[in-house]
Amino acid sequence: MSETAAIGIRVEDVRKRFRGRGGEVLALDRVSLTAEPGEFLTVVGPSGCGKTTLLRLLAGLESADEGTVSVGGRPVVGPDPYISVVFQHGGLLPWRSVRDNVALGLSLKHHRRPTADEWDRVDQMLEMVGLKDFRHHYPAELSGGMQQRVGLARALVREPRVLLMDEPFGALDAQTRALLQEELERLWEQFHITVFFITHDIDEAIYLSDRVVLMSRRPGRIKAKMAVSFPRPRRENDPRAFPEFSHLRQQAWTSLKEELREVLQ
Ligand SMILES: Nc1ncnc2c1ncn2[C@@H]1O[C@H](COP(=O)(O)OP(=O)(O)OP(=O)(O)O)[C@@H](O)[C@H]1O
Ligand SMILES: [Mg+2]
Repeated sequence: MSETAAIGIRVEDVRKRFRGRGGEVLALDRVSLTAEPGEFLTVVGPSGCGKTTLLRLLAGLESADEGTVSVGGRPVVGPDPYISVVFQHGGLLPWRSVRDNVALGLSLKHHRRPTADEWDRVDQMLEMVGLKDFRHHYPAELSGGMQQRVGLARALVREPRVLLMDEPFGALDAQTRALLQEELERLWEQFHITVFFITHDIDEAIYLSDRVVLMSRRPGRIKAKMAVSFPRPRRENDPRAFPEFSHLRQQAWTSLKEELREVLQ
């Protein structure tokens, strides 16, 4: 598979409002953040604080009312072939086999059927996520963890430079989740991509990331940014046992608890 250089993300002073039947909601208020090329950046924040909205702006699925969103130094004006998205529920087409679901990542990029070489890449990708033997199965015949792996394969087969992930492991059991975290770190290293990851799980955020961004309750604002400098690969040198890990977890949890208390009052 050919290598591509990672590209960075820049969000500057972004405001986003939604106007619905119930009135207007300010989802994001003057949000600024950057991810360096190849960085693993994670966003954590209370439900409804605008995390998915931020991801959709980066994916070109929404546009900002104010401020700028750019990827690789270019403003995002719509879906981009170099940006792939993985959602919480794989988003697989139930009537397509695993192999065809992964190939869809390519047909959507190139607007044509995959070539023979591309089918080879689909199979290679399925092997990398451990699903080679299941390539002719249908999504309903797979476990939740396997479906997320297919979603990941479909996102990566496009050779993206930026991978946007919205709570991709949120619906999985703890063991599957831990395994997929390890796999994600491996794939991130191998593909040299920039990852923008959303989770509610503070430990997952710290374990995976170079930096964790904490958001306030709605309207979403950036509350704090934490650098995480544990050595990699973390799957071989688990930082969760380090005292500094507990310290970061405590810091993040204290900050989030203030926001959650306000939401519940
Ligand atoms: N298409 C839309 N139309 C109207 N309001 C919307 C729309 N999308 C999001 N919102 C509102 O914007 C706010 C932020 O929503 P968003 O989905 O970004 O939150 P979130 O941080 O991802 O929450 P969660 O952790 O529950 O997934 C919410 O108040 C939501 O109701
Ligand atoms: Mg969300």
